[in-house]
Amino acid sequence: MRKILVVNSKGGCGKTTVATNLAVALAARGEDVALADADRQKSSLSWVKRRPKNLPRIEALNWSKSEAIGDKDKQLDAIVIDGPGGLRSELAKMLIAEASEIVVPVLASVFDWNATLKFLDDISDIKRVRKGKADIHVVANRINRRSTQIGELEQALARKGYPVLCRISDRVLYARHAAAGTGVFDVSGAGEHEIRGQWHPLLLAVDT
Ligand SMILES: Nc1ncnc2c1ncn2[C@@H]1O[C@H](COP(=O)(O)OP(=O)(O)OP(=O)(O)O)[C@@H](O)[C@H]1O
Ligand SMILES: [Mg+2]
Repeated sequence: MRKILVVNSKGGCGKTTVATNLAVALAARGEDVALADADRQKSSLSWVKRRPKNLPRIEALNWSKSEAIGDKDKQLDAIVIDGPGGLRSELAKMLIAEASEIVVPVLASVFDWNATLKFLDDISDIKRVRKGKADIHVVANRINRRSTQIGELEQALARKGYPVLCRISDRVLYARHAAAGTGVFDVSGAGEHEIRGQWHPLLLAVDT
């Protein structure tokens, strides 16, 4: 059973987008998957409510309170956790203590760099992560032609020991899927087909 925590202290970097699409990718290949929402906004829970019944089932878990964490663990192949906004809360600490994989979406905006580097350092300092019990995977999100700083950001991240694992394009498709309770691995339209490959490094990483 894998517990994949998607987290960053920065709001709006794509936590919910990454968590929902990752859950869909795992469910699409037949895994028993739950999406646990640990964010106060509960966007992932409402996404599951919108999910069409004919698509591979994703169970919703409300983990916004620390008492709920850990329920249902044994019966599932994977739990993808839409994480809370920071690391300080008791809830965040508990989630990191449970996670086997930590996925950190980052935006290629110059304003995010320092906050993101600091956040990655903070996670790496957590004993369990230092000991190699949880791996950190950095996902560069919303990449487009205007993302001229991505090269520099990647270099800065790599120098610090956080190489970017995958690059997700900025596509309206993601917002459409979010609204429909679906993800890019649910349907094989031309657009989805084009961008699915970008998720493969992350899917491989959470498998090993
Ligand atoms: N790759 C992408 N392409 C296009 N739009 C995207 C992409 N990733 C995220 N978005 C959009 O950006 C907005 C923020 O993304 P999302 O809600 O996933 O971030 P979040 O980190 O969960 O935010 P919050 O901190 O509010 O929980 C949403 O409107 C989402 O549809
Ligand atoms: Mg969110």
